[in-house]
Amino acid sequence: MLREFAASLLMLSLAGALALRSPQQPAPASPTFYRDVLPILQQHCQRCHRPGEIAPMPLVTYAQTKSWARLIRDVVRSKRMPPWFADPCCGHFSDDPSLRDQEIATLSAWADAREPGDPRDAPPPPHWSEGWNIPQPDRTITMPKSVAIPADGDVEYTYEIVSTEFAEDKWIQMSEVLPSSRQYVHHAVVYIRPPDSKWLRGAPLNTPFTASSLKDPALRHQAHETTSDLLLVYAPGSSPDQWPDGMAKFIPAHSDLVFQMHYTTNGQAGEDQTSVGLVFAKRPPSQRVLTLQLANDHDQIPIPPNTDNYRVEVHGTLPNDATLLSFFPHMHLRGKRFEYNLVGPDHKTETLLRVNYDFYWQLSYRLAQPRLLKAGTELQAIAWYDNSSNNAHNPDPNSPVTWGDQTYNEMMVGFFDIAVPANVDKQHFFIRRAP
Ligand code: HEC
Repeated sequence: MLREFAASLLMLSLAGALALRSPQQPAPASPTFYRDVLPILQQHCQRCHRPGEIAPMPLVTYAQTKSWARLIRDVVRSKRMPPWFADPCCGHFSDDPSLRDQEIATLSAWADAREPGDPRDAPPPPHWSEGWNIPQPDRTITMPKSVAIPADGDVEYTYEIVSTEFAEDKWIQMSEVLPSSRQYVHHAVVYIRPPDSKWLRGAPLNTPFTASSLKDPALRHQAHETTSDLLLVYAPGSSPDQWPDGMAKFIPAHSDLVFQMHYTTNGQAGEDQTSVGLVFAKRPPSQRVLTLQLANDHDQIPIPPNTDNYRVEVHGTLPNDATLLSFFPHMHLRGKRFEYNLVGPDHKTETLLRVNYDFYWQLSYRLAQPRLLKAGTELQAIAWYDNSSNNAHNPDPNSPVTWGDQTYNEMMVGFFDIAVPANVDKQHFFIRRAP
């Protein structure tokens, strides 16, 4: 069973497809663009470096790539590109886009002569559906009204609730968030609000609102206190959700989707109207995927000023058996390192993922080998923060940093995905927090 999950996860990922190729061949002596370089760009770079995606320039044609050749050599040698922050100490991940040494050597060797070669050597172009990294969605749900983003200042978290209009239950095999203006979206969380949920009932539908715009204090409080199931989390560079065969997210009939948008300003006013694309499972899955979180929002924060390695920890116990699939750590500008650990009965810890955190790159990390965890398993998340002047992103090392939504405040949320039997509800999976 586990092996099957792993196999289908591999097939979903480009990194996995690469792992199936023959092992180390030497880099070609005089590489050409079409024969040697383009396949690497297609597999490792074009997810972001193609028109309409997050990278500033496409790397699709010879003409586009040629003038970047030297910089490409520098960024692949220094491992700045493709972006990936999992410490090689721990774990293997199916969405790891890292280049192999031989591929780095090929790109580096090509940077000097920049030979185009013969276009007939080119691999077939990958099929990208317009705008999406998942196949053409079966359903696209868009925030009904666009949100105006000012030129400067903070933008409070903005919510928009929209009905799915699903007359029957739906299983979601893949999903992707697609902002209309990526440059403003720091991150987005899309929640599933089933018809029996009381969460944010009374808040407006089909129109943007913020917590402070709500008159009812109880409702205002609810905006931050969600227990609803998560459809997906998005940040620039994060990959879409694609669950292996037999696993899917569940959206009950007549649910709403709640978009929680964190916008940041960049000197120019604009607007955004984000969509989510859904690919339905072809048949009902045997496993349901749930996104849980290990979060610490009261103890240990504020972070004192001028500290360069401040540690915040949280524990939780898994109440039922589950298969661990993936991680998505979330911190803000002072974030330095994030770790997920299993704590054994003997208090020995095993690190499942260590991320050398970069605020500008919030990625998901999918286990190459999903891991069956027994009920009672203790999970630990640890975050380290650098609130000193060594941290180039730090807006103010001389002040304590409090918990909060804005990027100059801090957060500590370790999202993770598990698969459980299809009939199990999220209610059975509240992680008990231990100090
Ligand atoms: C997850 C998305 C993503 C992937 C995958 C990715 N890039 Fe990038 N790349 C970006 C973004 C965004 C920028 C601009 C911001 C920055 O420089 O960090 C960038 C910048 C660059 C730059 C310019 C750096 C500079 O200093 O101006 C080069 C060159 C580059 N990428 C090459 C590559 C190559 C080669 C690959 C594949 C081996 C790759 N990238 C994969 C998103 C990506």
